[in-house]
Amino acid sequence: MSVNVSAQKAPSFVVKANQPTATVAPTMWGLFFEDINLGADGGIYAELVKNRSFEFYNPMMGWKEEKRGGGEGSLLVHNRNEINPANPRYLRLQVKSDQGEYGLINEGFRGMGVKQGNQYDFSVMARQHEGSNLALTIEVVNAKGEKIGGATLTPSGKEWEKYSVSFTASATEPKAQMVLLAKGKGAVDLDMISLFPKDTWKNRPGGLRADMVQLLADMKPGFLRFPGGCIVEGRTLDERFQWKKTVGKPEERELIVNRWNTEFSHRPTPDYYQSFGLGFFEYFQLSEDIGAEPVPILNCGMACQFNTGEVVPLDQLDPYIQDALDLIEFANGPATSKWGKVRADMGHPAPFNMKYLGVGNEQWGEQYVERYKVFEKALTAKYPNVQLISTTGPFPDGEEFEYLDKTLRSMTDARVDVIDEHYYRPAKWFRENATRYDNYDRKGPKIFAGEYAAQSVAIASPDNKNSWEMALSEAAFMTGLERNADVVTMTSYAPLFAHAEGWQWTPDMIWVDNLQAYGTPNYYVQKLFSTNAGTNVVPVLRDNKAVTGQDDYFASATVDKKTNELILKVVNTSDKAQNANFVIEGIKKLQGKGTHTELTSQKLDQVNSFAEPKAISPTQKQVNVKGNTVSMLLKPHSVNVFRIKTS
Ligand code: AHR
Repeated sequence: MSVNVSAQKAPSFVVKANQPTATVAPTMWGLFFEDINLGADGGIYAELVKNRSFEFYNPMMGWKEEKRGGGEGSLLVHNRNEINPANPRYLRLQVKSDQGEYGLINEGFRGMGVKQGNQYDFSVMARQHEGSNLALTIEVVNAKGEKIGGATLTPSGKEWEKYSVSFTASATEPKAQMVLLAKGKGAVDLDMISLFPKDTWKNRPGGLRADMVQLLADMKPGFLRFPGGCIVEGRTLDERFQWKKTVGKPEERELIVNRWNTEFSHRPTPDYYQSFGLGFFEYFQLSEDIGAEPVPILNCGMACQFNTGEVVPLDQLDPYIQDALDLIEFANGPATSKWGKVRADMGHPAPFNMKYLGVGNEQWGEQYVERYKVFEKALTAKYPNVQLISTTGPFPDGEEFEYLDKTLRSMTDARVDVIDEHYYRPAKWFRENATRYDNYDRKGPKIFAGEYAAQSVAIASPDNKNSWEMALSEAAFMTGLERNADVVTMTSYAPLFAHAEGWQWTPDMIWVDNLQAYGTPNYYVQKLFSTNAGTNVVPVLRDNKAVTGQDDYFASATVDKKTNELILKVVNTSDKAQNANFVIEGIKKLQGKGTHTELTSQKLDQVNSFAEPKAISPTQKQVNVKGNTVSMLLKPHSVNVFRIKTS
């Protein structure tokens, strides 16, 4: 390939490696998780059965009747709401013929991903009726209906009990279904019909998809924000996220509709619910597993303002505040405390050491300020050391932003530790805003860039793509985040996951189907920054000014005091190769070698895909350093990271 090199003389940049300007917070580069785009159910939560406890509005959604060899019977949904309000429904399966088999099929979430040689663990809550002794056959079938795995079990008791059986799949299939058939005569009651792969993350039964978690772990994220996003708020207050309903035994977690089910008429997802198999305990555990600080965001008494915008009267906020106080006890309290015991009983006696709590997601208006203050007072009284995250709403500018930014910053009767800003903006905005934080108040609240992504068409457009231009522009902007690490202490791209057949919102950082997951170019940009964070920011200057787009160069640098390295990030957004000389000042001895990691594509509209998951992904080579100058050729449209040992 011939590269068109800019004719202009290679400019010199000066890196003042002994003049740190800021400490890079360990939380600088993190993750935003929301159950959107089948992110949890149908995504990272590895359950393969959809509507396992018949609690969807249509109780038989995802299921259909199956008869074999003359089998006859009936399926009837029962509701025991009076005695089990969290999981009221179950299914009565009655077999009415001695012939053949009778039962039902589950279609999974856009099918079930099944891998040859992998073990699958089936379980069910069941009870036989008086005089019944029905044997159950479980089969996994491929798209043609051919069996690729299965087992049998016979529930023995007349009381509810959990039964389990495992089997190995004989073939790989992205669109498998699960068949459950009964043989004999009589009736059996069924609930929580479940099928999990054994190879979950850390092989935890009922756990998370290992390939998806691995992509997160590889980023070495500083924090994990959960559970959203607008899902925190709910379309209505009744449909808000309530963490207490997501802990304890999975069969006791009350399912609710997912607010993304109906959000976009152009992407309806009528089968989108939250089973909460991935609940708050699992979020904390996931954070711990991947070395990320847990950052829960709670509802502050406001439903999504893009939907109903319902608010709780100020004098009725107590239950919401109690939820927040109890969450801190759940995360940090001793195993002897009420909520600490719930955590301990779930298998984690040690505290999770949670340090941050978000009050509301993306609220705006006076009503937010009023509610924030009530929360702040109660939380500070009991937990003054938990850092509180407040919000300036959905946009990075405009009236609502200005009002909240000003009000939060000038508040004298409540503390404001961290402000969450969101920006879903065109690529150009990102390139033009690398200086956004240069003039922020250094003594004011810290900034959490809690949701951002460059939009190739428009916010919430289904035509947005995770193209290279978006990722490149985000990288240019991120040099500005890093340069301002004294103010910006937390950042996360959003949304995180999308299922190729079940998404509502694009662009997204990681795309999955039932068997595969791949990182977008945006993922690789995020990963380059988070795995090359360093400990202290040092200036990179051209003509004594920060490098924020002059001649399409963007740059930032850190030193890593733990590894004695200088880490230089340089983004070339021009369509020409550009030479550059970086003169490193203030270091006695630069070692002669370093690494140059490069992420680039010559096509701005190029994307990664299931067919070419690494079309745009980093490559690394060794580089020689002469004296104290690093000379480099920056490819057109490239993100470059240099790591050089300093002693
Ligand atoms: O990331 C998608 C949505 O964008 C989030 O739920 C919300 O906070 C924002 O508007």
